[in-house]
Parts: sequence; structure tokens; C-alpha cells
Amino acid sequence: MAVTGNDLDRAKETLVKGELVAIPTETVYGLAGNALDEKAVLSIFEVKNRPAFDPLIIHTDSVEKVMQYVSDFPEKARRLAENFWPGPLTLLLPKKTVIPDLVTSGLDSVAVRIPNHPILLDLLGRLDFPLAAPSANPFGYISPTNAMHVNAQLGDKIPYILDGGESSVGIESTIVGFENNETIIYRLGGLAVDDIEQVIGKVTLMPNSSSDPKAPGMLKSHYAPRKAFFLRNKVISENGNEQTGYLLFDKYLEGVNIENQRVLSFNANMQEAAHNLFAYLRELDTLPVEKIIAERVPAYSLGLAINDRLQRAAAH
Ligand code: TXA
Ligand code: MG
Repeated sequence: MAVTGNDLDRAKETLVKGELVAIPTETVYGLAGNALDEKAVLSIFEVKNRPAFDPLIIHTDSVEKVMQYVSDFPEKARRLAENFWPGPLTLLLPKKTVIPDLVTSGLDSVAVRIPNHPILLDLLGRLDFPLAAPSANPFGYISPTNAMHVNAQLGDKIPYILDGGESSVGIESTIVGFENNETIIYRLGGLAVDDIEQVIGKVTLMPNSSSDPKAPGMLKSHYAPRKAFFLRNKVISENGNEQTGYLLFDKYLEGVNIENQRVLSFNANMQEAAHNLFAYLRELDTLPVEKIIAERVPAYSLGLAINDRLQRAAAH
């Protein structure tokens, strides 16, 4: 088990030494290392068991610092940053050479985010380097939304977990890139597309792909529980089957043991559903059931990102 606590000096010392620290963010917990230190970045890939073709997001605490790492910050990106940073928004921007190629898997653009979490912002303010941080889960597994999730999976591989409580948003950031005057959403996430469109107008959704080199991490199969996992438009109970766990949107199924069911939001509130998604998937994965059946949520606002995660979990 890794030491867990809220000691910012310790977190900073560990990172300065080139070692890794799990960090809280408002989206999910990250596995962080000095983004300018190739050895630290390499160990992120190793600990996560992540393929080197899947690039990392860098995190910092001000636009001034971002300007040290990117060579261009187009007008639309600026408007998004003004409106949504700190927050669950990642921008793909052309990188400066200080960012090692390892971070971007050789791509010319770097993914940047200013996260909205008080403890993390405090830590980032004390550092003179950005933090490269993928979600702190083994590659392909469900993302962690609290310190215990991180400890359960990566605890024996990292020296320190900075505990910032539960991640409020609960799903990863929305990734936005800019190409030939087009704004492209590469990954649906914790910032709703509607909110983005209100600020900069129409955007293009990048279809899921497991082969497009521009978005190597948009792998079709991801976020997957270990149990067999099935996605349905509408779930009906498999009569008296104690071997099945259910992930439901806003109400329990009748005639099924409540212990085998998780309801994302009894008020059909999308924020709450997103907040609970990964924690409930994990709980279902540890129940004595053989398979998990989930239902799609209504396809608006964060529901689009929730369905995206469920779809990828089912693609396993
Ligand atoms: O909310 C989040 O974004 C969390 C927290 C920790 O900040 N981080 C996160 O990182 O979800 P990760 O590594 O699990 O997912 C990052 C995604 C990957 O799918 C990767 O392919 C994509 O971002 N990405 C990173 N850099 C990229 C780049 N230069 N071009 C295209 N996609 C990139
Ligand atoms: Mg991830």
C-alpha cells in the first residue's frame, strides 16, 4: 500500500526527485510525474502498463505557464480557456520543444489542462514544471475517483497518494483540438458539448476509433470492468438471476436483489450520474456476480460522455 495523505511538501519533494505521486483532480485521480523529465514520464507508462503510443495530458495552474509549453494558442482555445479553466477541459495545442516527445507519443500537439481542485492547484503553484498525468488506473481498467481506488490498483507501485477526497465530476476531461478552422471534440467528457458550443459555436465530434493516430488513446475498448459487461438500451431483469449485477440510470429493477443493483441518479441528474459512474462500476465489479448489465442513459449533456464510457467498457 502507498502512503496516503495531504502533505503537499512531501508530494512536491517526491515529484522533484523524479518519482510519481497520485494526484486528486475534479475529474478522476491522476498518476503524476514531472512532464519535463523523460525518466519520470517513462515510469508513468511503466507503472500504468500503458503503451507508448498513447500520449499524456500535462497539468499546470495558469495560462502564463501554459504559454511556456505551447507555440500557439488560437482565439477559440483562448475563449474556452477563459470560460472553463480551471475545469474538465483539455486543449490540444502545438507543443514547444521543452515538452519531451515521449509525453505526446511523437505528436506535434500537446494536451494541456488546468484542473479545478484546490489541493492540486496549490501543489501545481509550488512546482516549476507541469505534471504529466494519465488517469491513475492500470491501462484499460476503470478510472479511479478516490484515493482508495488508486491504492487498490497501483498502491504497491507508487510512493505517495495525495488524498483530495472524491473527484466531484467523476469522468475525465473533454478533449478539444483545432484544425483548419474546425473545432474537434476528441473525447467526450466532464464538460458538456452544449456548454462548449455556447461559447465558440458548432463543433465536430470525432467518432470513436481504435486506429486513428491523431487520438491513439481514444481506444474503443477501455474503462472496462473485469467481469463480463453488457450494454443495453433498456434493461429488463433476468428473472431471479443472482449472478447478474445491474448499472441503472434512475430507478431499481423490480424483482432483483437491491444489493446487485446500482442506480446512477434517482433524480435523473446527469452530473450526479457522472459522479457515480466509475465508483459504481467498480463496486459491481467486486460483487459476487458473474456479469454486469448496464443501461444507456439519456443522450444529452453529460449523458453523451457517460454512454461513451459504457460503450467502451462493453467493447472489451
Ligand atoms: O480528466 C482527465 O483528463 C484525466 C485527469 C487526470 O486529468 N486524465 C486523463 O488522462 O484522462 P488519460 O491519459 O487517461 O487520457 C488522456 C487522453 C488519452 O486518450 C490520449 O490519447 C489523449 O488524451 N491525448 C493526450 N495527448 C494527446 C495528443 N497530443 N493528441 C491527441 N490525443 C491526446
Ligand atoms: Mg485514462
